[in-house]
Amino acid sequence: MAKLTIKDILAFEVLDSRGSPTIAAEVILSDNNSSMAYVPSGASTGKHEALEFRDGDKSRYHGRGVSKAINFIKNELKESIIGLDPLDQKVIDTNLCKADGTHNKSALGANSILAVSLANLRASAVSRSMPLYQYIHSINKQVSKLNKEPILPAPMLNILNGGVHADNKIDFQEFMIQPLGFNTFKSALRCGVEIFYELKNLLKSENLITSVGDEGGFAPQLATAEEAIELILKAIKASGYEAGKDVFVCLDPASSEFFNENKYILQGADKHLSPGEMISYLKTLTSKYPINSIEDGLDEDDWEGWKSLTETLGSEVQLVGDDLFATNPERIKRGIEESVANSVLIKMNQIGTISETLEAVALSQENGYKTIISHRSGETEDTSIADLAIGLAAGQIKTGAPSRTDRVSKYNRLIILEEKFKIPFVGKNEAL
Ligand code: PGA
Ligand code: ZN
Repeated sequence: MAKLTIKDILAFEVLDSRGSPTIAAEVILSDNNSSMAYVPSGASTGKHEALEFRDGDKSRYHGRGVSKAINFIKNELKESIIGLDPLDQKVIDTNLCKADGTHNKSALGANSILAVSLANLRASAVSRSMPLYQYIHSINKQVSKLNKEPILPAPMLNILNGGVHADNKIDFQEFMIQPLGFNTFKSALRCGVEIFYELKNLLKSENLITSVGDEGGFAPQLATAEEAIELILKAIKASGYEAGKDVFVCLDPASSEFFNENKYILQGADKHLSPGEMISYLKTLTSKYPINSIEDGLDEDDWEGWKSLTETLGSEVQLVGDDLFATNPERIKRGIEESVANSVLIKMNQIGTISETLEAVALSQENGYKTIISHRSGETEDTSIADLAIGLAAGQIKTGAPSRTDRVSKYNRLIILEEKFKIPFVGKNEAL
């Protein structure tokens, strides 16, 4: 049989869910199998993420075009891997990184590199006639000592949006619900969806708007986190579920967005808090409400604050590093060494290749840190994160509200994979 190689790579400037240009890349193999991958984009982007390359030419898409990144794919990146074995994802990714040559992918852009890395992964799965999740599981053997069996993740649904994802006054970016008391993914998701319906009814009855933010959650004109949580608790009750048993509340304040000169400035709530006061505030919220997870509770560089937050709340609440870790194995390592946080948010485009993403997950899991595979606020029809969550047995997935196809497409992929391949659903204790 002829050796399988990468025959061609195509790239297109397409649009994400905010109408911002993004990249679709297609890897075509010598056996004529191929696949397309689309790259997402963040709004509350962390300082330590790999660079997203944009044209900066104000005459096109307000400077947000990606035509230069597309050219990098067609030239430098294509040259670095053409003719190689696509099944050796590690070599492909190493070559892509070498072509860039910088520590944060600032020469060619993490968006162009990820598009190729992910399209290569997807095309390889097609060529091997494997569902993507299974192929991911098979290559993870070389990366992870645990390489846990595929499992459906517990969903985290962001049903109320604030911060930079919405045009309201709420300081915290995300108010999520996590259904946990269920035996299947589908029934857990159904719980989340029914709560979402009730939240809409409640908002209407209180004359609040029901338009949605970037991640599909409602974006009512509320001011404080307490008001948002109280509404969600009412919606849980109205839908016949029990908060703290069937379903929990998760927060993503995205604190780096409102941290300035060593103060957490909550304009909606009218609070100016020192790191110690912010920790006390989060502690008050967790003792008052059934909150089981807080992401980016403190700033991405506030390592001292994070240590004390972890000492204060780490044994009872999942503390998730998103901007803090930026899916970067070096930063995750520091977190593990300094006992900072206990969970890692995984976003492929924060680091820029599949191999580094797998490494980040393996490192976290091997050290007892929980992992949550995540979308970005700017998304596309690409559903690879659903397969990634299953194939790596991440335990949890965060991919928005059950509204807007850019969010729902991931949930639909999970529903179908669960039913078609009879994959088990993560139990409550395994998830958290
Ligand atoms: P982003 O937000 O995709 O806009 O960065 C998501 C998050 O903070 O989790
Ligand atoms: Zn976040």
